Amino acid sequence: MPKYRYLFLLVLVILVPSLATVGLVQDKSVDIHTAWALALIGDTFWSTPWQCPPVGQLALLAVGVVIAAWLYRLLLCPLKISRTLHDVGYNQQAGYSRKDVANDVRRRRRRGELPPVYPNGWFRLMDSCQLRPNQVEGVTVLGEKLAVFRSAAGSVSVLDAYCPHLGADLAVGGQVVGDCLQCPFHGWKFRGEDGKCMGIPYAEKVPDFARVKSWPCLERNGCIYIWYHCDGIDPTWTPPVIDEIACGDWTCRGTTEHIINAHIEEVPENAADIAHLNYLHGPLVAAGVDLSSIYSSAWDFAKHVWRAEWQPDPAPDAHISTMHTQHMVYLFGRKVSIADIKATARQVGPGIVFLFLESAFGNFMLVQSITPVEPLLQRLTHSVYTGRWVPTCLAKFLLWGESVQVERDIMIWNNKCYVPRPLLVREDSSIARHRRWYAQFYSENSPRFKIERNSLDW
Ligand code: FES
Ligand SMILES: [Fe+2]
Repeated sequence: MPKYRYLFLLVLVILVPSLATVGLVQDKSVDIHTAWALALIGDTFWSTPWQCPPVGQLALLAVGVVIAAWLYRLLLCPLKISRTLHDVGYNQQAGYSRKDVANDVRRRRRRGELPPVYPNGWFRLMDSCQLRPNQVEGVTVLGEKLAVFRSAAGSVSVLDAYCPHLGADLAVGGQVVGDCLQCPFHGWKFRGEDGKCMGIPYAEKVPDFARVKSWPCLERNGCIYIWYHCDGIDPTWTPPVIDEIACGDWTCRGTTEHIINAHIEEVPENAADIAHLNYLHGPLVAAGVDLSSIYSSAWDFAKHVWRAEWQPDPAPDAHISTMHTQHMVYLFGRKVSIADIKATARQVGPGIVFLFLESAFGNFMLVQSITPVEPLLQRLTHSVYTGRWVPTCLAKFLLWGESVQVERDIMIWNNKCYVPRPLLVREDSSIARHRRWYAQFYSENSPRFKIERNSLDW
């Protein structure tokens, strides 16, 4: 919790007894020292002759408490937005539920000739704070069910969730025992480090080959990541440590999560698609996410303007690409300088982006992660970090604005088809360069999409 939230609580704790003290002294029933003592122990009501306050005052007090609680939540609590597949990204149709529309679009969409569905690289599983010592959690990523657990000593391990003995789900009732995860069905124990079976409660001998697949994982910048390579090759790079986050100077002020229906490459390709910025992301965020209304002339009085360029980084950082962006807001044709934002987005591998933002209100870091759940289903998260003394409401506003812009993208991604040989003009050249750059994350054996029509319902 940022320090100023403690400050807010402290002010409340001091203010309430102070007001009570003033009330008591004015009432002339006690001297100031007694009043303070009584107020501090919350004895205000009992130390004075009880008179029922008028209903109007009570109602006013109730409204004041509700407004204070609302302001506390709005200004000081981190933002949490979680949208599942059918919440956003589809045109609603009369007579159909959101879920029906989402499933219908998924079934009917032309998929085109898709690149492999799971690139090689690091992918975010969850935030570190979501996994306490001795806790086990089940996650579905890369089309696999995995069991993620933290030992009492604090180390994190990731194993295939299905027990090789008789197939129980290790994440459903499995127990963390030392550095092992014990299956809830017959009690076999699997070591987190390498998945080796370390004990079978009723057997004399543990077969050497008894093991479950263990996944390379890493805890960094407050996140738990796993490494995926279709050929089982060990990591060739790691996500960078962001000093401000790692040392705790910058704290998380909010997270958004969206489940989207698209090929994973569509999302990072957005950074190299410079032309869409001033079109799709041009209308003011206040116009919302409905693409059928954001282009209305009613919003012509204000717009976001973007200048951007995208470049792959040279070796040895060839797995990184960088986008430099300048964001401006124009109101009635005049630039609103206070809304200027300079952004540098570093895409690290196929699924992690660190977006550093410099604004008149302070500096922020948006951490974006895209993790494949299934071949055409991605979990997209954004977390905003900033310095301890930057008000949370600013970070929340920034994240909300980002979320609106992302939901416009989702409306496109959820409905578009992948075009393997797009019709590009010279100004689109960075898209072609991005495709060549991203191809490094696929191997010959990278899995490809197979149509299983009956399994597509959400
Ligand atoms: S199924 Fe896991 S121990 Fe039997
Ligand atoms: Fe976009």
